[in-house]
Amino acid sequence: MSETPEYLLGTNDRELQRLEAQHGVWSDLASDALDRAGVGPGDMVLDLGAGPGFVTRDLAARVGATGHVTGLDESPVWRAAFEARDYAAPVTFIESTIEEADLGEARFDCIFSRWVFSFLGDLDPVLAKLRRALKPGGVLVIQDYNHEGVSVFPESAGFEAAIRATRAFYRGAGGDPWVAARLPGPLRRSGFELEEIRPHVRAGNGESPVFRWLDAFFPTFVRTYAEAGLMSEEEVESFDEEWAALARNPDALLFSPMIVDVIARRPG
Ligand SMILES: C[S@@+](CC[C@H](N)C(=O)[O-])C[C@H]1O[C@@H](n2cnc3c(N)ncnc32)[C@H](O)[C@@H]1O
Repeated sequence: MSETPEYLLGTNDRELQRLEAQHGVWSDLASDALDRAGVGPGDMVLDLGAGPGFVTRDLAARVGATGHVTGLDESPVWRAAFEARDYAAPVTFIESTIEEADLGEARFDCIFSRWVFSFLGDLDPVLAKLRRALKPGGVLVIQDYNHEGVSVFPESAGFEAAIRATRAFYRGAGGDPWVAARLPGPLRRSGFELEEIRPHVRAGNGESPVFRWLDAFFPTFVRTYAEAGLMSEEEVESFDEEWAALARNPDALLFSPMIVDVIARRPG
């Protein structure tokens, strides 16, 4: 039996819509990072923690008919959504946890992984496996959180409680919302050469894409946090009131958590 805890955020229709909206807000960053990493036509790519395949579709368009994209995810629900899509390249799905998957030797030109490492526990064995699975000279592109900077103005005690609860929620399941900041050591120990660390933050008021992105998350998850004992009922009430006021205030500002591109290469 797998020792990996079930995916923290669920595999339901609401999460499917949230992932799609999230991809809409952040897809340009994935594309820019893949450009800088030199991923292009004919490449063999692994989309690690592919979920329902939103990035996979972009990866398939990038590598084209002469390339190939393998999506890996532990969820049979996401597998069904992944396999229901059309792709511009041949694709394969591996239904497995990352920890248990056999990824073979020197198969991929690129391994891409977005918002997955923050759910993983021990990174060293995973990274050693990924290095082996890359061809010499192949590139690992990770996009994940250094969970700092996330804030709202005017300040909101309810929002701050929700952020504290989010961090505790990840950590309680063995994940790490600061994972991007902790990657250099495990990457070096696993034989990667670090090429780039590039942080990104987005900001906007209640009508902005970044606000709508978090609006699809927090109003639901504060209830999950209350059930898990990570927020009090009073904190949830404050959150609801303050969040609604922020959404209506044209001068309010929400800053996203920092999302970091980490690009590392298997030496050639
Ligand atoms: C936040 S979603 C991101 C999905 C996709 N990468 C994207 O950017 O839209 C995280 C995904 O990682 C998968 N996941 C988390 N931990 C995993 C593990 N240990 N093994 C395999 N998949 C995992 C989940 O099932 C989920 O689909």
